Amino acid sequence: QTGHTTLDYGFVNTSATKSAITYIDGDQGILRYRGYPIEQLAKNSTYLEIAWLLLYGELPTADELGEFDEKIRRHTLLHEDLKRFFSALPHTAHPMSMLSAATAALSTYYEGQSDPNNPEHVELNTIRLLAKLPVIAAYAHKKSIGQAFLYPDNSMSFVDNFLKLNFGVLAEPYEVDPVMSRALERLLILHEDHEQNASTSTVRLVGSTGANQFSSVSAGINALYGPLHGGANEAVLDMLARIRDSGESVQRFVERVKNKEDGVKLMGFGHRVYKNYDPRAKLVKESADEVLEALGVNDPLLDLAKELEELALSDDYFKERRLYPNVDFYTGVIYKAMGFPTRMFTVLFAIGRLPGWLAHWREMQYDPQTKIGRPQQLYVGAPARDYPGAV
Ligand code: SDX
Repeated sequence: QTGHTTLDYGFVNTSATKSAITYIDGDQGILRYRGYPIEQLAKNSTYLEIAWLLLYGELPTADELGEFDEKIRRHTLLHEDLKRFFSALPHTAHPMSMLSAATAALSTYYEGQSDPNNPEHVELNTIRLLAKLPVIAAYAHKKSIGQAFLYPDNSMSFVDNFLKLNFGVLAEPYEVDPVMSRALERLLILHEDHEQNASTSTVRLVGSTGANQFSSVSAGINALYGPLHGGANEAVLDMLARIRDSGESVQRFVERVKNKEDGVKLMGFGHRVYKNYDPRAKLVKESADEVLEALGVNDPLLDLAKELEELALSDDYFKERRLYPNVDFYTGVIYKAMGFPTRMFTVLFAIGRLPGWLAHWREMQYDPQTKIGRPQQLYVGAPARDYPGAV
């Protein structure tokens, strides 16, 4: 504490805002969207119904949801020029880089229709982002595997259309697997919001300067990309594959983690808020066996993940630090079984989190107490001194 400022690295003890959207109790492992427990929503709701709930605070009526869904279907097409944007990138480009860049580029088509102080623009661009981000995500996927882009099919539901955009190929009919559709819907629901996580805080901070939803969401995508945040779901699969390919025992790997050798971490474990089992991880783990079996996939990496979890949860190093699996620990195994490349996993996280980002951007925009985010600092640099010869 110095003068009128408190030094708080990573905002561990600082609330940046009031919010009515999501409630987390880290000790109890509780997560609620607008008061509804995540366990009930994941099993009974849909991605768009929850997007509405997060944005407007109440569950939509059947008519409201129908109109919302219809509006989004009517906005799925991207400007044809935006497809050429991807041809400027190397095929080795990471889909998360493509997603954030294309989202920022998307805003160039809506100059003059993106005034954050114009409620009609805010509503329209909420619809545009919900409709177009999944298409951009699928384009990034197709670009990374060298396949032709597909056009959205507005006769399909949000999730089924997204699956077809990713896995359909021009020359073949595409049949959605209902197991995959339901599993992806549930995974997207589990990612829709998580209060002031790093990427959502980024969206709010960028929005607090008066930047529009496209710029704010593009910034959020970049924050999510980091392996300590959303990028962890990709890092977990890489970690599991490295353990398998190296032939290293899980015991030896965990010892290296505890000794912090080369900064190695047990990716997918630990959380700033949850000091108990992440309720989302519990739901994902429960459905992992069921989904893989239904998809006819037997992946030894799932067993390896369970072995790692069991070992870590019985080890004092992890118990003392209250480290448990988080949402990223098991999701990748399911995405992989669905056929998504590992580098698309964080893109899927971004599609899931988009409604939360937009809901928080909106809450920030309409909160009369919002001020531009501008933290202080504790200066520890050189004292005043003169430039040689200046005096
Ligand atoms: C997400 O904020 C959110 O809500 C995020 C998210 C969301 O929905 O938006 O939930 C999504 O990002 C989940 C987290 C995904 N990240 C990972 O799985 C990466 C591995 N996890 C760690 O990097 C870490 O646990 C964080 C980043 C998640 C949390 O970091 P904190 O709260 O700053 O905790 P910390 O780094 O201070 O760790 C406390 C102690 C340290 O030990 P000591 O140095 O005191 O001895 O626990 C250790 C850490 O070294 N530790 C780990 C560890 N996580 C923490 N040790 C080994 N492996 C780990 N994974």
